[in-house]
Amino acid sequence: MAQTTLISKDQIDQRVAEMAREISTEFAGSDLIALCVLKGAMFFCADLVRRMTMDVALDFIQISSYGNQKYSSGVVTILKEPQLDMRGKNVLIVEDIIDSGLSIREVTTYIESRGAAKVKTAAFLDKPKARKVPFTPEYVGFSIDPQFVIGYGLDFAEKYRNIPEVQVLSD
Ligand code: PRP
Repeated sequence: MAQTTLISKDQIDQRVAEMAREISTEFAGSDLIALCVLKGAMFFCADLVRRMTMDVALDFIQISSYGNQKYSSGVVTILKEPQLDMRGKNVLIVEDIIDSGLSIREVTTYIESRGAAKVKTAAFLDKPKARKVPFTPEYVGFSIDPQFVIGYGLDFAEKYRNIPEVQVLSD
């Protein structure tokens, strides 16, 4: 397997800071629940919320669609439910990557069903050409081509999440 750098640590730091500024401006003066989608989004979410300037509560949801495969099974399972009361709240779903769109569609529907007032999505990476269902996140770190990426939380069979940059994994 070959690993080549796609997005450097400096580029990540700079872009995540910009996203946090944008989100802080939009939600200035209001409360926000940042909902981290485990496991992939943990690094992105940690970096993003630490740079936000308004009150932010943190919660977690864990879903699984990939298992140990490189491609989505298409079946989204909720493995861990969030704990906070979402009724009437602004919720920012924090995702590491949107690929087919199946996972984020499922999470969005689920959070809306829990009575959130406003649901928005911040995705560190977006692969718009890989969609199986339409979905447009409000905040995107980097838009990339359909290729298999690892690092900054993204794994292949649970490996590589701790690489501090984004790399392309190829055979
Ligand atoms: C990954 C990623 C997204 C989803 C994106 O999760 O974190 O949640 O797949 O793919 P999609 O748009 O095709 O649905 P995964 O199930 O691999 O879990 P992980 O975050 O724990 O690695």
